[in-house]
Amino acid sequence: CRLLILISGNGSNLQALIDACADGRVDGQIIGVISNVPDAFGLQRAARAGIVTAVVDHRQFENRSAFDQALLATMQSFDADLIVLAGFMRILGDNLVNAYSGRMLNIHPSLLPRYPGLKTHQKALANGDKEHGVTIHFVTAELDGGPLIAQARCPILPEDDEASLAKKVHELEHQLYPLVVQWFASDRLHCQNNQAFLDKQLL
Ligand code: GRF
Repeated sequence: CRLLILISGNGSNLQALIDACADGRVDGQIIGVISNVPDAFGLQRAARAGIVTAVVDHRQFENRSAFDQALLATMQSFDADLIVLAGFMRILGDNLVNAYSGRMLNIHPSLLPRYPGLKTHQKALANGDKEHGVTIHFVTAELDGGPLIAQARCPILPEDDEASLAKKVHELEHQLYPLVVQWFASDRLHCQNNQAFLDKQLL
């Protein structure tokens, strides 16, 4: 399975996928990493692993649709089977999303449908939630709204703050993302009519 990974920052999820491909937990090759942020640390992780990188800097474009067009062209130059958004912090337009319908995954640091968008740890704390976690979903034109594939949970304890929650959620992410990518790589995971299926069972 040819994986193309989109990042904007640190790339710890990218690293988890690099490691999982290297040790056989994911039956795939990361054929490229694209960042919209030129100095994202994840680009260094990719280079260290010998992976081709590209930068499409959103600040170089007049508007969202010009950025989307350039990003799509760069993505298409890779001929990927699966697009993996791993901390990619730009909203993608319908055109681009539809070009990869059923072939693009995102990871989001909350138990969706709770807390789409930003500041999820802060929101979970402010609401006094007893648990928090991470969601992986297929990407559709609705922000953080595509069909859910998998979630992992952690308790919120009285001593937790944003930093401790972020750490817990990251640990869950690094376990869960390789697992879900492997479901796709092994042809067990599909998206049809805006619904996710694992081994033909509706998720
Ligand atoms: C993760 O928490 C992910 O859920 C969110 O952005 C963060 C990326 O972290 N979408 P990293 O760059 O993979 O370390």
